[in-house]
Amino acid sequence: MSIPTPSHTTPCRICGGAVERFLDLGDQPLSDAFRKPDETDDEFFFRLEVGRCTGCTMTQLLHEVPRERMFHADYPYRSSGSTTMAAHFRAIARRFIAEELTGSDPFIVEIGSNDGVMLRTVAEAGVRHLGVDPSAGVGLTAQEQGVRVRTDFFEERSALEVVADEGRADVIYAANTFCHIPYLDSVLAGARALLGDDGIFVFEDPYIGDILRRRSFDQIYDEHFYFFSATSVGAMAAQHGFELVDVERLDVHGGEVRYTLARPGRRTVTQAVHDLLLEESTSGLDRAEPYESFARAVMAIRDDLRSTLERLRDEGRRVVGYGATAKSATVNNFCGIDRDLVAVVYDTTEEKQGRVTPGQHIPVEDMSGFATDPAPIALLYAWNHAEEIKRKEQAFADRGGRWLTYVPEVRLD
Ligand code: SAM
Ligand code: TMP
Ligand code: ZN
Repeated sequence: MSIPTPSHTTPCRICGGAVERFLDLGDQPLSDAFRKPDETDDEFFFRLEVGRCTGCTMTQLLHEVPRERMFHADYPYRSSGSTTMAAHFRAIARRFIAEELTGSDPFIVEIGSNDGVMLRTVAEAGVRHLGVDPSAGVGLTAQEQGVRVRTDFFEERSALEVVADEGRADVIYAANTFCHIPYLDSVLAGARALLGDDGIFVFEDPYIGDILRRRSFDQIYDEHFYFFSATSVGAMAAQHGFELVDVERLDVHGGEVRYTLARPGRRTVTQAVHDLLLEESTSGLDRAEPYESFARAVMAIRDDLRSTLERLRDEGRRVVGYGATAKSATVNNFCGIDRDLVAVVYDTTEEKQGRVTPGQHIPVEDMSGFATDPAPIALLYAWNHAEEIKRKEQAFADRGGRWLTYVPEVRLD
């Protein structure tokens, strides 16, 4: 099954302007659809094309996958799989508790609370909270840790119900989720109704400036619908009754920005906002050229990665994958990497083990095999967790293991 008719231009989901395609990554499966080996027929494919709005500058996918196909009871991604990310979320939870959740009965809502990695700290502090996440499996894990969860999509409808039941929120937070939601007009209408007069809406997502710089084309997949900049977020905020009041660069997931919105005039706009807006206009993020040069670089990476893997295969050297990331679906299916080139992918996520990767059907196995695998070369799909992984896998390096990476260029270290 697939969504047909690839096109070069579509209307912008934010401002209605023209979105011009700059990269076509071909037909792609759902990035988190890890099937059982004997259940791979009738796989869903869609056209993965990405473009930039010539009006508001928002980078976005040209085709939307129905949300229920991606986010459901069996959604396999577990935020707590990385200790670095767990520490990152503990830190922001503590900051909210210390600086924003200080009234007599504060309330925080998280959109996309997943397995409770952030709200767990809030719950432990006894602060009123609610996670909203449509994926029931991850929600259950969160609930088992004392986190209150509403299994639902956050949008205007559900936000109005939350306000009616629980009142307005001091903080609305979303990590690696806001950029997943094509219908941001509805989410922002919901946030406007839910947020207290002096509240803040904070979200953090992969930053388009870092994606272009690092050539991390694998950040582009079904779930990542938007690729934000301060320029595009500022314009979107203004259009929906908010003001962009702060930005913070984050060194996680390959480079992100944490954006803070507030009701207009309620908070002082920080210098960091002005600085990032200036940096973006200086580096031409509002023009076509950096996106076109990114697309050319991506084509070169594809050719290089494929020929490197073919050469290694022809030399009889076994390559395994490390981290069955959602990102790896784009890499494997765009570059044509199957189990002939990568024998197996090792991953710590129970929900992915014993399954096969989307589209190319490479087996996913638990980490016990990695320690004994004879392969001296590991393709590091989870490159965004490289520091944590290399620290943990010192034994691999000690037995002559080498890491193969592909952004910003193909390298065998
Ligand atoms: N916040 C976590 C993190 O940063 O690791 C989870 C990120 S995970 C990539 C995205 C999560 O957003 C999934 O758990 C998914 O179910 C959820 N999600 C998708 N659409 C949503 C929506 N409209 N409202 C709330 N959550 C949503
Ligand atoms: P992410 O890049 O979207 O966070 O996904 C990371 C994937 O890599 C996830 O499936 C868990 C897996 N993983 C490991 O297998 N070992 C690790 O040490 C880490 C940090 C992640
Ligand atoms: Zn636009």
